[in-house]
Amino acid sequence: MEKQQQLYEGKAKKVYATERDDLVIVSYKDDATALDGLKKGSIRGKGVVNNRMSNFLMRLLEKEGVPTHFVKELNDRETVVKKVSIVPLEVIIRNISAGSFAKRYGVEEGIVFKAPTIEFSYKNDELHDPLINEYHALALGLATGAEIERIKSLAFKVNSVLKAYFSALGVRLVDFKLEFGRTPDGNIVLADEISPDTCRFWDAETGEKLDKDRFRRDMGGVEEAYGEMMRRVFGE
Ligand code: TMP
Ligand code: ASP
Repeated sequence: MEKQQQLYEGKAKKVYATERDDLVIVSYKDDATALDGLKKGSIRGKGVVNNRMSNFLMRLLEKEGVPTHFVKELNDRETVVKKVSIVPLEVIIRNISAGSFAKRYGVEEGIVFKAPTIEFSYKNDELHDPLINEYHALALGLATGAEIERIKSLAFKVNSVLKAYFSALGVRLVDFKLEFGRTPDGNIVLADEISPDTCRFWDAETGEKLDKDRFRRDMGGVEEAYGEMMRRVFGE
């Protein structure tokens, strides 16, 4: 499969057409942004970590019955995925308080919830991805009621699979963001990526942050954290 013209460039990935109408190639960059693109930088090797980890986790999820966009890893940074139309909702699952949840409700980070939570943000850069509820998403025609139900059920399934997987690696899955796409035949599949850019990972023993929060919060040791997650998953 060959890359053809570039269709899109995002903050962390580029997307290319292929000779097939139904497939595109995603290419992962080392570029990193935070705070709505205000903070810009680069995390050496991040594209490789995110590409390989995301593909590994998507395959694991497929085995557990979660349909995904994943088709084939081409190399360390590039992957063939199904061309989907992205549902403009960021789907956030939380197991432990952190980040915007802790800030919004004035609570400390690290409170283990009795049950996982779900929330949606409207994917819209100009509006800074505002929090949105299901009724508002329906009113704006962002998804149908059936699609929202399917997305919720898949997102909680992803959480139970990933929580157990990372727990066995000595990592607490604090929270994460998912995106879903529609295939031409109208099915909802998991899309985008699952990586240290889109998840919060805390070491189970020490509580050390092993994700993009080290970049967002200027903590240092960013590349080392991505490298450590790579070692936990691939033993390398
Ligand atoms: P938050 O606490 O800042 O709302 O983030 C929740 C989770 O979503 C966290 O794991 C990081 C991830 N996330 C993204 O993947 N992209 C984003 O643009 C934001 C704001 C968060
Ligand atoms: N990548 C997002 C941005 O640039 C936010 C984040 O991951 O913190 O706004």
